[in-house]
Amino acid sequence: MFKIKLRPYWLLCLAVAGAFIGCDRSQKGTEMPEPDPYAFVAPANFPESVYRFQNNPVTKEGFELGRMLFYDGRLSGDNSVSCGTCHRQTFAFADHSHDLSHGVGNKLGNRNTPAMANLAWMPEFFWDGGANHLEVTPLNAITNPVEMGETLKNVIDKLNGMPGYREKFRAAFGHDTINSQLMFRAMAQFTGLLVSANSRYDRYVRRENGVEFTADEKEGLQLFTANCASCHATDLFTDHSYRNNGLDSDFARDPGREIVTSDPADRGKFKVPSLRNVALTMPYMHNGQFYTLRRVLDHYASGVKDSPTLDPLLRQNGRLGIPLTEDQKTKLIAFLNTLTDAAFCNDPRFRDPINNSTDQ
Ligand code: HEC
Ligand code: HEC
Repeated sequence: MFKIKLRPYWLLCLAVAGAFIGCDRSQKGTEMPEPDPYAFVAPANFPESVYRFQNNPVTKEGFELGRMLFYDGRLSGDNSVSCGTCHRQTFAFADHSHDLSHGVGNKLGNRNTPAMANLAWMPEFFWDGGANHLEVTPLNAITNPVEMGETLKNVIDKLNGMPGYREKFRAAFGHDTINSQLMFRAMAQFTGLLVSANSRYDRYVRRENGVEFTADEKEGLQLFTANCASCHATDLFTDHSYRNNGLDSDFARDPGREIVTSDPADRGKFKVPSLRNVALTMPYMHNGQFYTLRRVLDHYASGVKDSPTLDPLLRQNGRLGIPLTEDQKTKLIAFLNTLTDAAFCNDPRFRDPINNSTDQ
């Protein structure tokens, strides 16, 4: 079974998350009314989405089926690991308890579980971009021996043998058939609707109800725009490119994007992750090597390692990294904290319907 390590740290994080959630409750009156909770609504400050819901229209039944599948451990080889075991709503669907993911039989993966939000805007998935369609992302997790360790055929056979699912597939898609295509569509209705766009940052840029930034947050935003936004671009906070940000000079253990393209020029490049909810999604980087945002900024300021594929933006005027004073780091962190969307991490639509909790 899934075990939680680093318990005191994890509890601390929970307390921090709780503080944010409490914070948001006090601002409830400022939230926009939501007419249809199952409609896919693109936030005003986002670019155009990539996933086409016209081909897979979201319905309440389809979304709820997708959510049930997402939280069902029976999709794994030993019936114990669900998508939600690693992708935890309280932490913006990242996993706090492990630097590297833990799957069936507590097997260790080689990468950190990324947060999930605004997936409908992502052209490619995984740290190396190994999947290019939202609907195929569950396949990788289900069949990966160190994640859910199951075959697609077994999953479909198991679902066919469970009475509850047949009715739910019929309600969602009008057929009695349970097949992988419909299963993936239902899951994409759930994962595609995980839209995070209600942080203080969003309300500030949309000028909602006079939401203001503090002086530190404003300076942090300026520093971010000057030093970080060329990669962590737009209000999605990623330009969807693959880059080497200098974590190492030898990528033999995980060559990243090169695995997908077989091009040595892609060695050590990883997808620029979105920074939405970043205060909640530690540990950071593809290998989970940093536990705090301060350590991430220490890395950019003085820890960048040189290698042939290091991003040119991190090697300017003969200097490695991004020069940042301690005060500037503090302001950047103040800004990054505004990206926390407590309404998203606490949204009852996204919760485990059986345990009705995101933190079992
Ligand atoms: C054992 C832990 C674990 C489980 C269980 C798991 N995931 Fe993941 N997930 C990961 C890891 C680790 C990655 C990054 C993989 C990589 O980059 O190679 C990931 C990546 C993803 C991504 C891509 C996110 C991005 O930003 O590119 C999606 C989407 C996703 N998982 C969905 C799912 C779904 C749906 C399920 C259930 C069918 C699932 N995951 C089950 C650990 C897990
Ligand atoms: C040259 C492009 C580039 C620049 C500039 C850049 N980053 Fe990144 N950032 C990346 C990439 C690529 C990763 C993922 C690297 C990996 O895991 O191998 C990343 C990861 C991160 C992460 C970890 C997120 C997570 O979920 O694990 C944080 C936090 C972060 N960057 C913040 C910043 C800040 C703050 C700045 C400005 C001071 C900045 N970055 C500048 C490319 C960049």
